[in-house]
Amino acid sequence: MRDFASELEQRKEAGLYRTRRQISGPQQPVLTSDGNRLLSFCSNDYLGLASHPANIDALRSALSETGLGGASSHLICGHHEAHHRLEERLAAFTKRSSALFFSTGYMANLGVISALAGRGDTVFSDRLNHASIIDGCILSRAKVRRYAHGDVAQLAAMLSETSGHKLVVTDGVFSMDGDVAPLRVLAQVCKDHHALLVVDDAHGFGVLGPQGRGSVAELGLSEEDVPVLVGTLGKAAGTSGAFVAGPAVLMDYLVQKARTYIYTTAMPPAVALASCASLDLIERDDERRTHLQALIERFRREATALGYQLMASHTPIQPIMIGDNWVALALSQALEERGLLVTAIRPPTVPAGEARLRVTFSAAHSHEDLSCLVQALSDCRHLLDTVGVAS
Ligand SMILES: Cc1ncc(COP(=O)(O)O)c(C=O)c1O
Repeated sequence: MRDFASELEQRKEAGLYRTRRQISGPQQPVLTSDGNRLLSFCSNDYLGLASHPANIDALRSALSETGLGGASSHLICGHHEAHHRLEERLAAFTKRSSALFFSTGYMANLGVISALAGRGDTVFSDRLNHASIIDGCILSRAKVRRYAHGDVAQLAAMLSETSGHKLVVTDGVFSMDGDVAPLRVLAQVCKDHHALLVVDDAHGFGVLGPQGRGSVAELGLSEEDVPVLVGTLGKAAGTSGAFVAGPAVLMDYLVQKARTYIYTTAMPPAVALASCASLDLIERDDERRTHLQALIERFRREATALGYQLMASHTPIQPIMIGDNWVALALSQALEERGLLVTAIRPPTVPAGEARLRVTFSAAHSHEDLSCLVQALSDCRHLLDTVGVAS
């Protein structure tokens, strides 16, 4: 039998061992973590809607209307009008013909990729795509070709030497780098090579583009340009679940074929109604995005002035590149001693030698919160000098 205990020991020795902290109370910038209060800069609640009173009220009143459990899969008797209402709302919000609601973004990517590509087909995937896309590619049994991050020229060359059905998959906003995929050129290259483009906008949805319609809408790209759009509701929307949006024929096809849609219990319908309420907030609350952008720009100015190496990102994901696993852990630990929660991200989530602190911002952060972060980063800056990782 495999020696699981010694594998865990090896992980610990390499600085790759992962632990969970226990949060109590609501998700908000000031968290109670294992009984201690910490100012968090690591959640994906980009708009501060996870504990918004309007969403909580919507969930409470939806529960009395729909009850709690999903009770069955969508194709048996679990497809509630609440799910349907959310799908219509999501289609309108993303300006797509139709939408299909999944229980999580992970399941959406697995289901969509494995349904839209199979044996004999080829899936082209950006090297920095999220784990759920990588796993969806594996599950599809299609041939998988990975192109260098954002390298559309390399993708075009690969597409031109491939025949048969071709699927191109990319994150819209890359989850660990915060940069946006070159979506306009990707869309054109996919059209030129008759490839079906899937964009997972988990981190752009709610944050980027007019009224938070996402990274694809930010560039004015239509359903014709990006036929398959995936988004999650557990991040900026502050609720739970995910969706895919696009032409009705594709949604119909997914209902028939996406195993992670078919073989699972439907999400509690009340959560779908809470997501509808959250979409109302996302759509009308431009001030949240304006405030968020101001925080991001100020952080970039001040952290760069301290000598930290940031990445090419204008999104709420603002990683500080460190490199070494142990230094990333030491900086994260030193910040925690100062009352701040910023997690170190290590391989295999990021490539070897690219450990980083993944700083994320929320519209629920105040400028005073940001000042605390910058002060703590200034106090801890010396930790990087020994290994020469700062710019
Ligand atoms: C790009 C991307 N896609 C999909 C997911 C999965 O979404 P969910 O958390 O809803 O499962 C995540 C993060 O978790 C992500 O970063």
